Amino acid sequence: MREALEKIKQIAKKELMDAQDIKSLDNLRVKYLGKKGELTNILKQMGKLSSEERPVMGQIANQVKTEIENALDASLVTLKEKAMNAKLLSEKIDVTMPGKPSPMGNKHPLNVVLDEIEEIFLGMGFSIVDGPEVEYDYYNFEALNLPPDHPARDTQDTFYITDKIMLRSQTSPVQVREMEKTTPPIRIIAPGTVYRSDEVDATHSPFFHQIEGLVVDKNITMANLRWTLDTFVKKMYGNDAQIRFRPHHFPFTEPSAEVDVMCFNCHGKGCRLCKGEGWIEILGAGMVNPKVLINAGIDPEVYSGFAFGMGLERIVMRKYAVDDIRLFYDNDVRFLKQF
Ligand code: PHE
Repeated sequence: MREALEKIKQIAKKELMDAQDIKSLDNLRVKYLGKKGELTNILKQMGKLSSEERPVMGQIANQVKTEIENALDASLVTLKEKAMNAKLLSEKIDVTMPGKPSPMGNKHPLNVVLDEIEEIFLGMGFSIVDGPEVEYDYYNFEALNLPPDHPARDTQDTFYITDKIMLRSQTSPVQVREMEKTTPPIRIIAPGTVYRSDEVDATHSPFFHQIEGLVVDKNITMANLRWTLDTFVKKMYGNDAQIRFRPHHFPFTEPSAEVDVMCFNCHGKGCRLCKGEGWIEILGAGMVNPKVLINAGIDPEVYSGFAFGMGLERIVMRKYAVDDIRLFYDNDVRFLKQF
């Protein structure tokens, strides 16, 4: 029995030293010290020993047990340390590695220029307002002095939702909404999307953007309109930019004008960019028709106003020499990245 104990001790110690992980260490604990373990098996045979041998063997057996337990503990400590080191090594990050660049977006050209335009008008004391894109026929046409049978409605190619509700074809309805809401002085611009059932080509899209302007106060005249637009184009295109008014007709302004800016490419001489005209049309404008003031609850005997509306795409196309409106909506980053 003494020999058997000695053998178990030797083998157990060796196996414990060789154990590669905590799980096999547990298995060894069961193998030697468990209820059906090898040491326990031997101890069960103690009963067969003589009363003199028993305490001697008992002592040896206890010693073996303690030694195995100690070896187990020592092994456990080394294995835990080993596992921790391996974990630290595998989780180590190299902080000197270059990071992965994340792609950066940039502002859409329409927004770049809209921001610029808003900044200019804010600087002149205007505020920026918003109106609905799904609009009543009343605000889009009727209140703006385009009764149901008015021929000018045809030029607007409207998307109707019901016979009273439509997608607004211009930003001018915001004029009426603003005048209904506030008492003069009014000084606003209203940028936004407008919709027309146009055939798509290089200069037409079923939706595009306009910026409406409206000023209503006592003693507002055409001279105020002219100064405002002149100041705007000089800030937008540079101090040598010039405008001219051409007589025109809009039902909601009287008198009305189309406003051109002198071609900044040829300075009025006529070139390919301005199609030989020397001037480029940028917006429609005029003095608010007294009928529109009345429709919106403002007394035309006390107040007068001017309004203008410009197409954002046109202005951006001219500014950056973009020759196809569809480029703005294709979302091709090779195009968008250039601004
Ligand atoms: N709403 C007009 C258009 O879409 C532009 C305009 C606005 C004209 C305000 C005069 C005054 O063509």
